[in-house]
Amino acid sequence: MNREDFPILNKNKELIYFDNSATTFKPQSVISSIEEYYTTYTANAHRGDYDNSVEVDQKYEGVRDKVKEYISADDRKEIIFTKGTTDSLNMIVFGYMKYYLKDGDEVLLSKSEHASNILPWMNLANIVGIKIKFIDLDEDLTLTKENIEKQITKNTKVISIAHITNVVGDIRDLNMIGKICKDNNLMFIVDAAQSVAHTKIDVKKFNIDFLGFSAHKMFGPTGVGVLYGKYDLLNKLIPTQYGGGMNSFFESTGEVEYKELPERLEAGTPNIAGVIGLGAAIDYINKIGIDNIHKHEVELKRYAIEKLKDIPDLKIYNINQESGIVVFNIEKIFSQDLAVYLNHYKICVRSGNHCAKILKDEIKTTNTCRASFSIYNTKKEIDVLVDVLKNHKNIYDIIL
Ligand code: ALA
Repeated sequence: MNREDFPILNKNKELIYFDNSATTFKPQSVISSIEEYYTTYTANAHRGDYDNSVEVDQKYEGVRDKVKEYISADDRKEIIFTKGTTDSLNMIVFGYMKYYLKDGDEVLLSKSEHASNILPWMNLANIVGIKIKFIDLDEDLTLTKENIEKQITKNTKVISIAHITNVVGDIRDLNMIGKICKDNNLMFIVDAAQSVAHTKIDVKKFNIDFLGFSAHKMFGPTGVGVLYGKYDLLNKLIPTQYGGGMNSFFESTGEVEYKELPERLEAGTPNIAGVIGLGAAIDYINKIGIDNIHKHEVELKRYAIEKLKDIPDLKIYNINQESGIVVFNIEKIFSQDLAVYLNHYKICVRSGNHCAKILKDEIKTTNTCRASFSIYNTKKEIDVLVDVLKNHKNIYDIIL
């Protein structure tokens, strides 16, 4: 599906790229949008009165409108451009939660969260004294209503979870969790890094208070992402960066006036080319249709499971999850060795703990191989993966 849109695949016909949860390839339309900015209308944003600068402002602010539509937000001022999901989550924790939460308040996470949705909270626990509680996962490594509700006490203030987790690939029921948050007066934070290119996000319908995602996992460039917040909450978020573009004036006396949203939270020259590339990535996804993307990835996953199941010493950890990720190991082979072996056949997978370092408590292994699919992957590529894995007996002849 759509392979011809991706120059890297046209140049590397043999390459089998199954590491799309780490980052996706970029279509020509995204690359061209960035090249066009650098070759035909380069200027800074929000600072100039000449033609190029006006064009930059129109394009840059136009992407804010696109993002607003894409996640069904109420107001374009609720969209802040950041460096990526990690930056967005850190802004939420250190710009808002640091002032909102008190000693003894509880934050609910799960052990399958990525480091970027655990480490900021662990740091806040040291600063403010919040208590982190992990919601139990069921035997399928998923979150259930019962297990979430079991953890809620009068001190619980926040639930912060990934929409789709980056290892297990389980899709969380945001409708259900958003309702629990509403009924219990909890803040609801969503890490959408792994879902934004795969399944529709509706921040209003799901009652999401804050959300973050990155462009590079949705066919866009690296180094740019989005922080969404409900207007009244975002308006209270204290900037974690100060500088140009976010103030109206300042005096030698120390008197300062900051701008309104969204500028107040975008200090310094933004990643203009990145934001323009993000806009082109959204156009690209909209052209294909996010439901078609999801359908294709799930079909590939089901196909892969059916084939991989026939390999006797191969264990799959996430058979039932409806996303395009397969996590596996071959008995007695270290996952990184397996990844190096696959690389010999030009197959790219990720191995290790995938930045979800405490998932080991639930999945009962510290390292796995992860194949994550995207629109340009094919069943033929999966057949190659399966054949190579079937022949793994010669692995150490190959990698040593
Ligand atoms: N978070 C990215 C991954 O899961 C890098 O691979």
